[in-house]
Amino acid sequence: MKSSPRQLSLILAMFFSLLILVFSGVLQLIFYANIHFLYSVLIVIFFFPVFYFVFRYALERFIYDKIRIIYKTIRRSKSGERNKNRLLYHKGKRDMLDAVSQDVEQWAEFHEKEIADLKRLEAYRREFLGNVSHELKTPITTIQGYVLTLLDGGMDDPKVNKKYLLRTAKSINRMIAIVNDLETISKFEAGIIQLQQKKFNFTYSVKEVFDFMEMKAQKRGISLVFKGNPDLPCYVMGDREKIRQVLINLIDNALKYGKESGETSVSIFDMDDHVLIEITDDGIGIEEQDIPRVFERFYRTEKSRSRAQGGTGLGLAIVKHIIEAHKQTINVRSKIDLGSTFAFTLKKA
Ligand SMILES: Nc1ncnc2c1ncn2[C@@H]1O[C@H](COP(=O)(O)OP(=O)(O)O)[C@@H](O)[C@H]1O
Ligand SMILES: [Mg+2]
Repeated sequence: MKSSPRQLSLILAMFFSLLILVFSGVLQLIFYANIHFLYSVLIVIFFFPVFYFVFRYALERFIYDKIRIIYKTIRRSKSGERNKNRLLYHKGKRDMLDAVSQDVEQWAEFHEKEIADLKRLEAYRREFLGNVSHELKTPITTIQGYVLTLLDGGMDDPKVNKKYLLRTAKSINRMIAIVNDLETISKFEAGIIQLQQKKFNFTYSVKEVFDFMEMKAQKRGISLVFKGNPDLPCYVMGDREKIRQVLINLIDNALKYGKESGETSVSIFDMDDHVLIEITDDGIGIEEQDIPRVFERFYRTEKSRSRAQGGTGLGLAIVKHIIEAHKQTINVRSKIDLGSTFAFTLKKA
């Protein structure tokens, strides 16, 4: 049987009331005192609750004094008064010990979760630091190599000096790109990026980005196609600059990983109070096991040879941050060697 202070007080009160009853009986026998049976019963009726409450109070007080310190720690409550009230004068259905064990359980659960979260964050931080230093090492080593060669006499050799300087500049640009992307990501993660959400015409953004990417597309002979009526405005709610960034990143990928002389298209689908936007290429595609990972920072598929193309591996991580900050979703479907489609939603305005 589970005994609680209440049950124990009840038993003790019963015991002592019975004792009084027996005592009055004994008194009657010994002293022939003429105590009416009714009086004895009345006495018991009076003493029973008194006993019960006195015992209960004493017991709870005693237990409370013993567990006070532990309790104070787990409830992290500065106010001892509040804890005391909660435990001692709690008039609900809960027993004090039940209340304590429930609180301790809650506390343990909460801390288990907290510890798991901290461990995960720690692993994540370690991995991230490792990735950052690894990514920066390549351009730094390259720069160091060229600068040393130039200092070692290469400077006076007209055949190589300009070439080496150009390569150094390229590595520096790469470092700047990585650092800029990292800065954007850390701002998103620190939650200090404020979206400037306004109504804007998405069709117009597509046109702007197409103009901006035209040169790059031409270099690979890829045609940029808008599948929709370019004269029909499509009003959406969002941060225009950030959404433009999303389009640029996705189209940039489509051009980098698309087929030479192929096609990259943007489509808009109407879905009640949202629009679905798809960016499709006919390039190398993404293996099924890589699909869930392409939005991770620094993740690149082997086939893409992204690093050789100057990719930071951070573009999609930024894209995802932007879309999620808009409380929208992004996903990808892809078939190896057939192409990929990145699809995200936006709220209509
Ligand atoms: N359209 C695409 N087709 C094939 N692979 C892609 C495509 N877009 C992204 N990927 C893969 O996802 C990786 C991550 O993309 P991203 O974060 O933009 O980095 P980056 O473009 O700098 O390589 C790319 O390196 C590539 O392996
Ligand atoms: Mg990219």
